[in-house]
Amino acid sequence: MTVVGARPQFIKAGAVNRAIQEFNKKKGRIREIWVHTGQHYDYLMDKVFFEELKLPKPDYHLEVGSGSHGEQTGLMLERVERVLKNEKPETVIIYGDTNSTLAGALAAAKLNIPVGHVEAGLRSYNSAMPEEINRLLTDHLSTFLFCPTDQAVINLLKEGIKDGRARIVKNVGDVMYDSILYYSKLAEKRSTILKELGFFTPNSGRAIHESPLHRTPNYYLVTLHRAENTDDPKRLKSILKALNEIGRNTPTVLPLHPRTKKMMKVYHLFRGFKNIKFIEPVSYFDMLKLEKNARAILTDSGGIQKEAYWFRVPCLTLREETEWVETIKGGWNVLTGAKVKRIVGR
Ligand code: UD1
Ligand code: UDP
Repeated sequence: MTVVGARPQFIKAGAVNRAIQEFNKKKGRIREIWVHTGQHYDYLMDKVFFEELKLPKPDYHLEVGSGSHGEQTGLMLERVERVLKNEKPETVIIYGDTNSTLAGALAAAKLNIPVGHVEAGLRSYNSAMPEEINRLLTDHLSTFLFCPTDQAVINLLKEGIKDGRARIVKNVGDVMYDSILYYSKLAEKRSTILKELGFFTPNSGRAIHESPLHRTPNYYLVTLHRAENTDDPKRLKSILKALNEIGRNTPTVLPLHPRTKKMMKVYHLFRGFKNIKFIEPVSYFDMLKLEKNARAILTDSGGIQKEAYWFRVPCLTLREETEWVETIKGGWNVLTGAKVKRIVGR
């Protein structure tokens, strides 16, 4: 049983679903049941991915929606447990580090159903992050720890979680990488987002903003949604100021996560940033196209730091630390935090 609920999980579970289908065509008989917790529900945060990536229609939709951590996780726990009791799956697979991840893992572990965690072993060592709490607990509840990197395996070892009789802990690679390998050419062909945003003239295919020396589109792509940035008015304002400054000379596009939109309203931060091009969240194909062609990416997203790295697009991470330390070591990612000078200076 696959338990998903948030945008990045649809993409990750999609890659595994494809592998299961391939396996079933040749020699297997794996039955996969999809449970959608309902954590994300706006069309552009949810259905667009099911349609574009042709994901299976969830067998169960738990319609939990938004709420405080306790409310949301508690409701999920109750409803996932009911499904588990009904279906009695052999294994529950959960992805990443959201509240849907923790609820799926906890509900299964309490019923003695083995849990498989895809993206196990990541650590920011910042316990103020809700995601860090979710990861830590989920890993300790899991039997199959599918790590995306060697560092993740080492992180688990430090906590006494190791490959052996009781548990399987392996670096299996990154399912998000599988996903971009599979989709990036298709996205390049299908997505018309650059044209829609005016980054290309309609006929020539050349970028409007390119200088004679640059024949590639010239824009910065930004995403911003981490609670540590959006729910702290000082940090949020500072990041927006920096983006506005950058946007003065180079188009700067920001597909706005609903959490960020909500907090910008709460803190009255919609005025004064006219150099930032705010747009609705985009589909996966549009995102891949935007990432691949950007001059640089500024983000606090986990998944987007990796995608920037795989596309070899320079990345500025608007955080103080990252779980994806390899991207920093590789020289493609720098941590800027939220201060205007540090962001613009880069
Ligand atoms: C969640 C994950 C985060 C992940 C992100 C991916 C947790 C604790 N956080 O953060 O790790 O990086 O998803 O995008 O699980 N909202 C809508 N429409 C939606 C979804 C959310 O309007 O479809 C708004 C609601 O006001 C909600 C807020 O966004 O309260 C936050 O949503 P929530 O799912 O709690 O957390 P995310 O910030 O999306
Ligand atoms: N993504 C997308 N459209 C958007 C923003 C993100 O398709 O408007 C994709 C992105 O390409 C990546 C994943 O969603 O594959 C990352 O999700 P997100 O940033 O919401 O969460 P995180 O990875 O930080 O948990």
